Amino acid sequence: MQVMGIPVWMPKDTYGSAEESPLPNLPPQGGKEQELLPSPILLPSPLAGGEAPRLSCWDGLGMGGASCSHLSWQDLRATVQSCTRCALAKTRTQAVFGAGDVQARWMIIGEAPGADEDRRGEPFVGRAGQLLNNMLAAIGLPRESVYIANVLKCRPPNNRDPKVDEAANCRGYLERQIELVNPTLILVVGRIAAQNLLHTDAPLARLRGKQHRAPVSGTPVVVTYHPAYLLRQPADKRKAWEDLQFAREILATHVN
Ligand code: URA
Repeated sequence: MQVMGIPVWMPKDTYGSAEESPLPNLPPQGGKEQELLPSPILLPSPLAGGEAPRLSCWDGLGMGGASCSHLSWQDLRATVQSCTRCALAKTRTQAVFGAGDVQARWMIIGEAPGADEDRRGEPFVGRAGQLLNNMLAAIGLPRESVYIANVLKCRPPNNRDPKVDEAANCRGYLERQIELVNPTLILVVGRIAAQNLLHTDAPLARLRGKQHRAPVSGTPVVVTYHPAYLLRQPADKRKAWEDLQFAREILATHVN
């Protein structure tokens, strides 16, 4: 691919210098300011531990699971970590809240934690996460400069697709994360995440290459392949690269 002039995702360290980067020199695309949340803390599942959830987005709001818009970062994280709204609470090791720069310009949204994420409490830390890091590095974004979250906060057993009710239960959490980060651009990876975020059943091929808007916040959204898919279909990295360039162009039009 490199011979053809198509950048290959490589660990950032392997670039060595800006000249070796597969990208043209561009201004830094990272977060507005580094203000990282503390690393996720491993909490036992409240169901396993028998402790009742302390907080809920829904208690007393009468909004049918719609809004967490009153919650601070701290309370949102605590709410997610103690959530028992669906059966995934019984099978998870821990909820995976999100990670990164809470003032990032780029927000990355995936589908749901896998086994590695469930164990470590952080999104995209397995093989797919490594490729995601390399994709970000290829456009000059250290992982720490973006904010990463998933549609579902808990791992579905055997990595099955999220169920409709599970995604609906988690929706308020994601919307509040988007509201708090207030990113300039959201990059959604994979069909499932894109369909859930954008409330559509359109196939990925129809979602790529267009600018969408996140419901509620109106944030520009670009859709690309899930890194786990790219691990299986490396030939499509070229198209993912085009998606990243497209996302950068959109971001450039929204930054002063
Ligand atoms: N896949 C996802 O969609 N999210 C993760 O956090 C890990 C793998």
